Amino acid sequence: MSDKTSFWEMDELRLIIGAMVILGGATGVLVVLPYVLLEDVKPPAGLKPYTTQQLVGRQSYIANGCVYCHSQQPRDIAQAPDATRGWGRASVAGDYAYDTPHLLGTMRTGPDLLNIGARQPSKDWHLGHLFQPRAYTPGSIMPSYPYLFEVRQGEAKAGETVVKLPPAFAQSGQVVLAKPEALALVDYLLSLDRTYPALLPLPVAVPKEQP
Ligand code: HEC
Repeated sequence: MSDKTSFWEMDELRLIIGAMVILGGATGVLVVLPYVLLEDVKPPAGLKPYTTQQLVGRQSYIANGCVYCHSQQPRDIAQAPDATRGWGRASVAGDYAYDTPHLLGTMRTGPDLLNIGARQPSKDWHLGHLFQPRAYTPGSIMPSYPYLFEVRQGEAKAGETVVKLPPAFAQSGQVVLAKPEALALVDYLLSLDRTYPALLPLPVAVPKEQP
C-alpha cells in the first residue's frame, strides 16, 4: 500500500467498517427494536406463572427434544387453519411472559402444543402416550420415552403412580410406573393453556372539542 492511498481505498478498513455497519443494523433490527416493542408487554390476567414442578417438566421438554417436532405458536387464520384444527387462537406476545427461553419451535411434525393442557386435560392419557404413543394414536411416528418410566413385575408400592395403559397394551403381572421426571413433564404439558381471551387494549377515541 503506497503512502498516497486515500482512506477509502484501504480495503481492510472498508471491510471492517462495512462489517460493523451491517452488524450494527442487524443488532438494531433483531435485538434493540424487538426489545423496545416488547418491553412493556404484561402477562395477561388469565396466565399463571409456572410452578417449580412445571419448570422442571419444561426442562425435560427441552432435554427430550419435544421442541424439534412440536411448535407452541398457533397462527392467525389468515396464515394457517390452526383454530379449526383445535389448536387455539393466534398467540400474542403476553402468552409467553413466563417463557424464558420461549419454545415457539420451527417444525410441526406433531401438533402445536400451546393449548394441549386445555385440549387434552387427562394426566393418565399423557403418561400413557409418553410411554407408548402408538397405544393411543395407531401409526404415530412420535418416539416413546421408556426411560421416564419403570416397568416392574408385580405390584406398585404406596405413593407410586401407575400408568393406566389401554387394555390391549397392558401386560398382566406387570406395572408401568411414572418416574418423577415423567410426572413433572406431564404437569408442564397440562399447564399449557392459553385459552383465556387475549384482548389487546383498544385505542380510546377522544372526541375533538367543537369550536
Ligand atoms: C419425531 C417427532 C416428535 C417428537 C420428538 C415428539 N413428538 Fe409428540 N407428537 C408427534 C406426532 C407426529 C404426534 C401426533 C401423533 C400422536 O398423537 O402420537 C405427536 C403428538 C403429541 C401429543 C398429542 C397432541 C394432540 O394434539 O393430541 C403430545 C401431548 C405430544 N406429542 C407431546 C410430546 C412431548 C412431551 C415430547 C417430548 C418428550 C414429544 N411429543 C416429542 C411427534 C413428535
